[in-house]
Amino acid sequence: MTVTAETLKDYYANIIDSVGDGVLVTDRQGVITLMNPAAEELTGLSRRQVQGHLFSGPFREARILVEMVERTATTGMNISDYENVMLMTGGHPIPVSAATSPLLLESGERIGVILILRDLTNVRELERAVRQSDRLSALGTLAAGLAHEIKNPLGGIKGAAQLLDRELSEENEMREYTRVMLKEVSRVNRIVEELLALTSPRKLKPEAVNLHRIIGDLIMLQRRAADDRKVVIQQQFDPSIPAFLADEELLTQLFLNLIKNAVEAVGEVGLVRISTRIHADYRMTQEGERRIRMVAVDISDDGPGISKEQQEQLFTPFFTTKPTGTGLGLAICQKIVSEHRGILKAQSSPGKGTVFTVMLPLVQ
Ligand SMILES: Nc1ncnc2c1ncn2[C@@H]1O[C@H](COP(=O)(O)OP(=O)(O)OP(=O)(O)O)[C@@H](O)[C@H]1O
Ligand SMILES: [Mg+2]
Repeated sequence: MTVTAETLKDYYANIIDSVGDGVLVTDRQGVITLMNPAAEELTGLSRRQVQGHLFSGPFREARILVEMVERTATTGMNISDYENVMLMTGGHPIPVSAATSPLLLESGERIGVILILRDLTNVRELERAVRQSDRLSALGTLAAGLAHEIKNPLGGIKGAAQLLDRELSEENEMREYTRVMLKEVSRVNRIVEELLALTSPRKLKPEAVNLHRIIGDLIMLQRRAADDRKVVIQQQFDPSIPAFLADEELLTQLFLNLIKNAVEAVGEVGLVRISTRIHADYRMTQEGERRIRMVAVDISDDGPGISKEQQEQLFTPFFTTKPTGTGLGLAICQKIVSEHRGILKAQSSPGKGTVFTVMLPLVQ
């Protein structure tokens, strides 16, 4: 290939377009001269919309970026990996890191600014998962000890309450008390059991599961439980989802917890919808990025929603806003999903409702 000015230009343009990070270039005046496809995707703006415009125009909302570009343009300084940038793309916040450098001619003359944007969504997900598992393993040691200490005296209390119950005659009013004792003892017992399940490692028993049968059965149960209330439970299943390998018992527990939460959230009147779909996703692996197929299940409700602060704590063991909740439901869900190498996400707008999304790899 003979290198002419034109082919050289194409050659460089190709390099920039092929970079996985977002690249934006401005001239000295701050006018955008170049933007690669990765930057288009990250910012949600197209090349045509921004090229020829001042950077501070289309990006006025991203104040930090405007400041970085201006500072590098005036001082010639590199500003590296500023990690706390949030881009609002299509209504969704995307965490990115940003770096700016001056664009220099060989003579050293500054002719513009290069801005590099890197998508941190995957990194943030990973950090969150690590934090969660740290929290769980610290809790695990504590819980195993505690559960052991509690179970024995609990057995004693239960036995004594049963004896007392038997001693009292049928019409004795005191039996009301023994019944409360037995009920509460079994509640403590359940918490201890759940805590142990949450914190001890276990082996999955994968088998080919029929997702729609599991969810269908759970919906039927919940419909019956919500009989006297005006809660509508809808299902919308994608028939193309095949049987896939997973632990049936754990999936049942997972969807039971999520559907129960949704039904509890809507209260007396409302709508819960469970829909399934196939989702193609990109996953980071050691060999690089790989496209995998996942089964996605959305459990949505039109309940009160969850505030921003509470969303941070949803998966923390013992976080509950319910008078008789254990706050272990979602922590268990999180564990089950990560044992299946899946993803569990919550999206909520307070006042409108909540969607929990489970994504499980379609392993066959
Ligand atoms: N669909 C939802 N809508 C609104 N808030 C929710 C929803 N799902 C969960 N939450 C909030 O998250 C908290 C934790 O849920 P989690 O399932 O872990 O425990 P819980 O439901 O309170 O107790 P348990 O599951 O033991 O009955 C709930 O108390 C509630 O505040
Ligand atoms: Mg729950």
